[in-house]
Amino acid sequence: MKLIDGKVLAANLRAEIAEKTAALKSQKGVVPTLAVVLVGEDPASVSYVTAKERACIEAGMNSKEIRLPADTPEDELVDLVSSLNADESVDGILVQLPLPKGINAKRVVDAISPAKDVDGFTPENAGRMLIGEECFLPCTPHGVIKLIEFSGMELSGKHVVVIGRSNIVGKPLAVLLSRKETNATVTLCHTGTKDIAAFTRIADVVVVATGCPGTLTGDMLKEGAVVIDVGVNRVADPTAAKGYRLKGDADFDSCARVASAITPVPGGVGPLTITMLLWNTLESATRKAT
Ligand code: GUN
Repeated sequence: MKLIDGKVLAANLRAEIAEKTAALKSQKGVVPTLAVVLVGEDPASVSYVTAKERACIEAGMNSKEIRLPADTPEDELVDLVSSLNADESVDGILVQLPLPKGINAKRVVDAISPAKDVDGFTPENAGRMLIGEECFLPCTPHGVIKLIEFSGMELSGKHVVVIGRSNIVGKPLAVLLSRKETNATVTLCHTGTKDIAAFTRIADVVVVATGCPGTLTGDMLKEGAVVIDVGVNRVADPTAAKGYRLKGDADFDSCARVASAITPVPGGVGPLTITMLLWNTLESATRKAT
């Protein structure tokens, strides 16, 4: 069994991004800039946003951090997004989700200019992806595909089972995998699927993105399958310094006994999500400079 090390792949890709960022700066005088908006203090969101900001700086980009209290009015957020849309120094806008209760996240996300929507969450980018037009690809699905390729698996003609139909991961991933460039056959399983194991047992690759630990166990896999675990769940652990530890959606030990390759949590998909965000921010800045 091979561990698919997301940190190694992310480091390789980030070195390439940093090189291109430096070239853009020296040739065009443009420093890619990502505006990161965090509303409230959800601990998981704080740690994701901090990691995104740090990654920007390490790649030679600017990070514009905007942290607001949980009771910020929705109209104020929409106005903030509008001002970031108009700010020429900003290449990418990221509003960390979920937003606090009472705020209509769709209204805030939809206010982001598609040209700066480096998460690929706006209806325009989602629609363009669906019909195969140029767009910002959503970061986690794009990262999952990079990881599968990195594992050595050639996706064309393979059967990939995706578990979970979220707008952020499952649904866009199913679309990306089935594009001609990738050419995989996709089954999308979800809470309405009667017998998920009947599908995973015939899958060459299983991607699990449900937000529930234990969704996938080794007995549900075909011998030699590749497993990509998108889940990041905090489970109480009094022996851990922070009082919790991170667990994926797959039961790692039983899956690792059957799979040919599997991503760890942490250190699997997470570093790739951030890397693809940097990739999109660089792309946006490059478009502006040309
Ligand atoms: N919340 C969980 N994942 C993501 C992501 O990729 N982008 C944003 N903005 N929020 C998230």
